[in-house]
Amino acid sequence: MTTNNLPMITGIGYAVPGKVVTNNDLTHLYETSDEWIYTRTGIKERRVFASDDEAFELLRRAAEQAVKNAGIDKEEIDLIVAATSMPVQFMPSSSCMVQKLLGIQRNVPAFDISVACSGFVYGLDIAAAYIKSGICKNILLVTIDNCSRYVDWTDRRTSILFGDGIGAAVISAGSENDIPVIDIRADGHVGDYITMPAAKGNCPFVDQTPTQQICSMKGQDVYKFVANVIPSYITDDILAQHGIDTDSVDYLVLHQANQRIIKAVQERLNYGDDKVISNIEHLGNTSASSILIALGEGIKDGKIKTPSKAIICGFGAGMCWGGGVICLREGIFKQENIFQN
Ligand code: UT7
Repeated sequence: MTTNNLPMITGIGYAVPGKVVTNNDLTHLYETSDEWIYTRTGIKERRVFASDDEAFELLRRAAEQAVKNAGIDKEEIDLIVAATSMPVQFMPSSSCMVQKLLGIQRNVPAFDISVACSGFVYGLDIAAAYIKSGICKNILLVTIDNCSRYVDWTDRRTSILFGDGIGAAVISAGSENDIPVIDIRADGHVGDYITMPAAKGNCPFVDQTPTQQICSMKGQDVYKFVANVIPSYITDDILAQHGIDTDSVDYLVLHQANQRIIKAVQERLNYGDDKVISNIEHLGNTSASSILIALGEGIKDGKIKTPSKAIICGFGAGMCWGGGVICLREGIFKQENIFQN
């Protein structure tokens, strides 16, 4: 019996801003060095949105690119989900902005999810559930984190890591399952590892001093948590538990948080460099968007061949994490739909 409500990933897109901030630029802000940052993280430079207008223009382009690659009309989209924890604006939501930016006329539902660097994996899980239930036929998932807006550029422990970027994907109902494994988890008990309290306003009726909204991180705690949890999560919970042989998957596309973490998982899987996708060197940690950007760039640069399969895994604030195995079908990212930044 064939079914037509399996989740197929039919198109992806991504966009990164033009403004580059190098490690050398950071040496003018505080005491640090290219060597320190590169050896600890694998990062050489990151990108930042020059303005809100640029961020929204890139959001439009990435989303349009995914829709074009999927080969559907934008009016066929019946749900928009945006994964964002560091949005350009809180209201209207990023997903409603996408609806407007793309000029989608139908009153399709649109909502944002806040799971930081796990945003793409959580978004895929939601999309797969809506497709399998028969509720939706075409879902547009975007990831947008304006990290440069929320990190403290006087804090050398966090501002070295993050960069801005956008990802997009269309998940459509079809006869093949492109998301054979997807799993999401959280442990709020260690939520204090990465925090960003909402900014305080100027309500005159309570004792309150206005504050900025700033992201802070206990880097060592995060590192230890990720190093303890993620490698075995991938080998045991994502692969072995689903009967998937490590060698049957073509690529590892991890959240781009730290090259040392990527390397640890690579060694655990015994994968050669050709199977591991990394863009942290030139983009830093783009939070919810990092996996989608790595997939798009990987295909564009010929490092990822399609059709193929990839292990994906995101992790970050919450602490939240999630992983899966996804199929990268041919045409998911067409060269003719690439735009120049
Ligand atoms: O996407 C969310 C997930 N996030 C992550 O996965 C991030 C995980 N954490 C990390 O990648 C690492 O913790 C960092 C790269 C952020 C930091 O590396 P670390 O080895 O954990 O450094 P640390 O914070 O423990 O600091 C070690 C030393 C300190 O000096 P003292 O106190 O020992 O004298 C820091 O002050 O390095 C100093 N330091 C720096 N020195 C030069 C911290 N940041 C810098 C810097 N440049 N940028």
